[in-house]
Amino acid sequence: VITQASEEIKLESYVIGGFVRDHILQRGEPKDIDIVAIGSGIELAKKVAEILPHKPKVQVFKNYGTAMLRAYDMEIEFVGARKESYQKDSRKPIVEDGSLEDDQNRRDFTINALALGLNEDNFGNLLDPFDGIEDLNSKIIKTPLDPDITYSDDPLRMLRAIRFATQLNFKIEKESLDAISRNKKRIKIISKERITDELHKIMLAEKPSKGFSLLHKTGLLHIIMPELTALEGIDEIEGQKHKDNFWHTLEVVDNIAENTDDLWLRWAALLHDIGKAPTKKFHKKIGWTFHGHEFVGAKMVFKLFKRLRLPLNDKMKYVQKLVLMSSRPIAIVDNDVTDSAVRRLIFDAGEDIEDLMTLCEADITTKNPNRFKKYHN
Ligand code: CTP
Repeated sequence: VITQASEEIKLESYVIGGFVRDHILQRGEPKDIDIVAIGSGIELAKKVAEILPHKPKVQVFKNYGTAMLRAYDMEIEFVGARKESYQKDSRKPIVEDGSLEDDQNRRDFTINALALGLNEDNFGNLLDPFDGIEDLNSKIIKTPLDPDITYSDDPLRMLRAIRFATQLNFKIEKESLDAISRNKKRIKIISKERITDELHKIMLAEKPSKGFSLLHKTGLLHIIMPELTALEGIDEIEGQKHKDNFWHTLEVVDNIAENTDDLWLRWAALLHDIGKAPTKKFHKKIGWTFHGHEFVGAKMVFKLFKRLRLPLNDKMKYVQKLVLMSSRPIAIVDNDVTDSAVRRLIFDAGEDIEDLMTLCEADITTKNPNRFKKYHN
């Protein structure tokens, strides 16, 4: 249909970005398609809608020069090829009309700059000026231009690099990783909502620890969630040590991720020891203690959710409850008290979040009423 529309209004069009990348990687059903027109993306969208039998509504975003329509359970977005230049304090670029090459130049990663021709004479031809195919094959995240420019122009791309590396199990090229470390402070100009969108995607990947260790390695995690990096390190007094609660947390997150796809349970795993940094004490007789870290942790969950603009609703309460319960030594595996309170809940309740909530509630209020009361007071 897009080919027909492009021929009728005599412009060139290409499918570009995530659709092409995921198509080559054979990554499931596409949810959205990005189309670049050499000319007006809005005109092309209108023509496509006219040809489609269900005559979908075209949503036009005049300020951005883009248009979107829904067809075949997908969102199809149309944009005119553009050239972008950025100012220092904004993610909003200055936009001019451009060629396909200009449009590929403005993309974040080589694997996201691949384009396929949609006109009759070049249908299906791959346009790959930055060897994105090579990077797809060798599983590399790399920017088309100087990474310092790409990340400084749009600092969200630092999180996108880490998110794609986590989702696709790719490696971020060394120059790129170094540039992320150098530009990390620029993440402050990005809205919290966009940051948490990326964090959710990292959290929902098969091995979330990969993303969190990259966030840690580049210094981004310290800016976004200093409560978590505060858990890093092992102190030793009089020969007594405690475990490194940061790396332990990442192990628990991966473990939970193997058992459930529930986003909030995964967040609970990430935050389950968060109260341990402020409550850490050394006692001559008993060694290291973290007394009351569950209560402190549950309060910290609220503050962190508020700061990151995560929802302050039942989901947050659910995460708080799991944090409250997390250190109950419910199971002993190989003589080692594990963080199995959370794990046991998954096995007991399956993956049904409502069941899990009821179970948490029942467990806290009936088996341990004082603990619950103390927290609520
Ligand atoms: N893009 C970019 N810089 C950004 C966001 C997006 O260059 N900060 C470009 C990339 O070429 C990307 C395309 O816009 O492929 C579409 O962006 P988006 O829909 O956010 O991501 P996808 O690559 O489609 O991946 P996903 O759907 O998994 O988010």
